Amino acid sequence: MTIRHFLTTQDYSRAEIDALLDQAAAFKRSRQGKQMAGKSIALMFFNPSMRTRTSFELGAFQLGGHAIVLAPGKDAWPIEFEAGTVMDGDTEEHIAEVARVLSRYVDMIAVRAFPKFIDWNEDRKDKVIAAFVKHATVPVVNMETITHPCQELAHAMAMREHLGDLSKKKYVLTWTYHPKPLNTAVANSALLIATKMGMDVTLLCPTPDYILDERYMAFGRENAKANGGSLRVSHDIEEAYSGAHVVYAKSWGAIPFFGRWEEEKAIRDANKHFIVDEAKMALTDSGLFSHCLPLRRNVKATDAVMDSPACIAIDEAENRLHVQKAVMASLLAGQ
Ligand code: CP
Repeated sequence: MTIRHFLTTQDYSRAEIDALLDQAAAFKRSRQGKQMAGKSIALMFFNPSMRTRTSFELGAFQLGGHAIVLAPGKDAWPIEFEAGTVMDGDTEEHIAEVARVLSRYVDMIAVRAFPKFIDWNEDRKDKVIAAFVKHATVPVVNMETITHPCQELAHAMAMREHLGDLSKKKYVLTWTYHPKPLNTAVANSALLIATKMGMDVTLLCPTPDYILDERYMAFGRENAKANGGSLRVSHDIEEAYSGAHVVYAKSWGAIPFFGRWEEEKAIRDANKHFIVDEAKMALTDSGLFSHCLPLRRNVKATDAVMDSPACIAIDEAENRLHVQKAVMASLLAGQ
């Protein structure tokens, strides 16, 4: 039997996404369930987390199941992912054993593995989660690699709660400054879910260097076509914000400068004015603001925006709990 994973929303039809969001809304109304009674999930964290870890652990508990958190290289053995390698370095066991052993213990494996930020051509292969999928015999869930599909669902849920039908709503994904180059995962995901919801999406970024990987731009265009929305790129802050119903902020590193971050720094430093502030939000159509969190206040968005009624970032963060319960319940129901 083919195993159904939750790796990217691109593997799920619009109807399936809507069904997950409906199930998440039901879990929000009534938190306790038995969908995971006697079942378990291993949460493999190769990178730090606050929201993802808390909401997955709590979600499993609320559905009658159990979550086991492991941080390979910290509280669990460092894992080797290369095939055929002579393991005489720092890694102690191979993913071929790790994934198969975990599959004998637990019913699902969830993975957070960020890019290494050296070579995008390597990082875009998403090798860590792909290796879990290859060797595991249970469903694998993406807790953020080069996309962040659980965040997508939480974001869509929060927008639907505030706006209802999202079709043709004007959505701006804006790049913001951050002192370090960050993962493109949430930005990729924002494009995927907003276009899947049929929104009119503008990717706002300082220069063409910050346009996202063509894989995700192409998925965005496909989604927009299939769902009656649109996708375009703008470098004009005022024009992009004008009339927006949703502004979603994220910082990410420019792909052409991957691994050469000192060369990108001058561009990043010259664009601190991309911060989301009250003057920009005043250009919107009473627009909502959100961010995946964590967020550096007064770097990515001002205190005034974060503390305004337009900010739905806390709703979105809460929704991580509900959507992930929907994902776990759905994967278990499909086994
Ligand atoms: N948004 C998000 O994934 O938060 P954490 O990094 O805290 O898990």
